[in-house]
Parts: sequence; structure tokens; C-alpha cells
Amino acid sequence: MASLNSASKPKWATVNTTLPARPLPLNSSRIPVTTDRLIIRALDAQDLDGLHSIRTQPEVMVNHPQGRIDRDLEETRPKLDLFLPPKDESHYNFAICSKATGEMIGIGGCHQLKSMFGWPAMGYMFRKEFWGQGLATEFTRAWLDMWCRLPRDEVHIEVDQRSVPDGEGKALEVMTAFTTAENLASQRVLEKSGFERFLMWEEADLRDPDAQITLVAYRFFPSKQLAN
Ligand SMILES: CC(C)(COP(=O)(O)OP(=O)(O)OC[C@H]1O[C@@H](n2cnc3c(N)ncnc32)[C@H](O)[C@@H]1OP(=O)(O)O)[C@@H](O)C(=O)NCCC(=O)NCCS
Repeated sequence: MASLNSASKPKWATVNTTLPARPLPLNSSRIPVTTDRLIIRALDAQDLDGLHSIRTQPEVMVNHPQGRIDRDLEETRPKLDLFLPPKDESHYNFAICSKATGEMIGIGGCHQLKSMFGWPAMGYMFRKEFWGQGLATEFTRAWLDMWCRLPRDEVHIEVDQRSVPDGEGKALEVMTAFTTAENLASQRVLEKSGFERFLMWEEADLRDPDAQITLVAYRFFPSKQLAN
């Protein structure tokens, strides 16, 4: 059950848990995964135009901390470079393509192996022409399955205690995701994909530092998925 905290105050605790083994598979070894309507494949330098077309839609970027579209291709280039060799070991982010046409319609996956709660975080962005057809849910479910199937290592890490049901000691592994309280579509995608809401809080809006924003944190337990 989520509670609204007036400020985000981490309570760090060391836990024994699991995480996908490092190094993560490099882009060159990621085998494309196909769903009913999507191909989820490794990102490539050729995806610059595809990513630029996503990041130049105001309706997409309004939910992004940047809060505005990319000015030109040169502003998009470093955003793609973050996910290309030699940086491909530090994410599990993918191009999301239409199975019918092959075109890139979104980007999604784990862009951050250690987010503000100490756990990995996942997210997604789709071109607006493809919203409202269940594609983000189709992607998220398939991607979580890919994440859960990665080999695991036992780890001893610091996490925000508010993200784990058991507190200090042994903790079930967690995948996190964050949305603004206004982003009901994204919350619905997460809930339909097996995430549960665990925290709401207010903080300065990165898009407008004078304004406050309400954020919602979600968690997903990979070991519960594997047990099903
Ligand atoms: C959020 C986003 C990924 C959703 O993609 P999508 O393919 O339309 O999502 P889906 O169709 O799988 O599911 C959306 C769900 O939200 C619901 N929904 C959409 N808008 C809604 C609204 N304003 N209020 C309540 N529910 C809403 C839909 O009805 C659907 O639920 P249902 O299947 O139960 O009917 C897409 O809008 C997007 O890329 N937005 C910009 C980037 C972004 O916000 N990323 C997430 C950052 S946390």
C-alpha cells in the first residue's frame, strides 16, 4: 500500500538478495524477442533517426524529466550512445519495433542498474501513433520475462528500506519503475504487468524547479514471476 510522503527521505539498509549476473549480455549477444505484434531487439547506431522521431514528439517528452523535445539530431545522439558499446554492459534497454513493418516505434527496458532506491529501474517511451493499443503492456510483460530469465548472482547491496517488504536482512529482489501521479496510462501499464505501487512523494519538478510534482514508485518481484 502506498503512502504519500511530503519529502523523499531514503532509509538505507543493507540486504542480501539477488541481481542479474554481471556482465550483462552485450548488445551483440542479445537475441531479438518476438511477441504478437513487436520485435524487441538490441539498440544499434542505425537507430538514431528512430530514437529522434520518438524524442521529438511533445506528447512523449512532456512526461520526461527533460520536459521538451530534443532540438536536433545532435541532442539525441548522446541519448542513444548511452546504450551502445562500450556502454552496453550497464543497461538492458532495447529498441521496440513493429513486427509488421520493422520500424522502431519505442524504446524500453532497464536504463539504470541502480536507481534512487538502490534497485534497477525500467521504463518505456512509444511514438504517440502507437498508443492505446496495448503495446506498452505487451512490451513490458515480454521484457520482464527477458529480465527474469537472466542468470542471477547473490549480492549484498544497500537499498532504500521503503522499497522492500522485509526491511533489513534477506530481501526478495526488486525491479522498480517511477511515474508522475498524472501519468495514469503508465501506471495502468505497470499494474497490468504485475508491478505494485509502494510509495508516493512530492519533490521539485525537474521540468520547472519552482513547481512541485507528485511521483509514484512501483516494484516488481522477479522471483515471484519465475514461480508462476
Ligand atoms: C505511457 C505509454 C507507454 C502507454 O503506452 P500504451 O501502448 O498506450 O499503453 P497500453 O495501451 O499498453 O496501456 C495503457 C492503459 O492505460 C489506460 N489509459 C490510457 N490513458 C489513460 C488515462 N488518461 N486515464 C486512465 N487510464 C488511461 C488505457 O486504457 C490502458 O489500460 P486498459 O488496457 O486497461 O484499457 C505511452 O503513452 C507513452 O509512450 N507515453 C510517453 C512516455 C511515457 O509516459 N513513458 C512512461 C514514463 S513513466
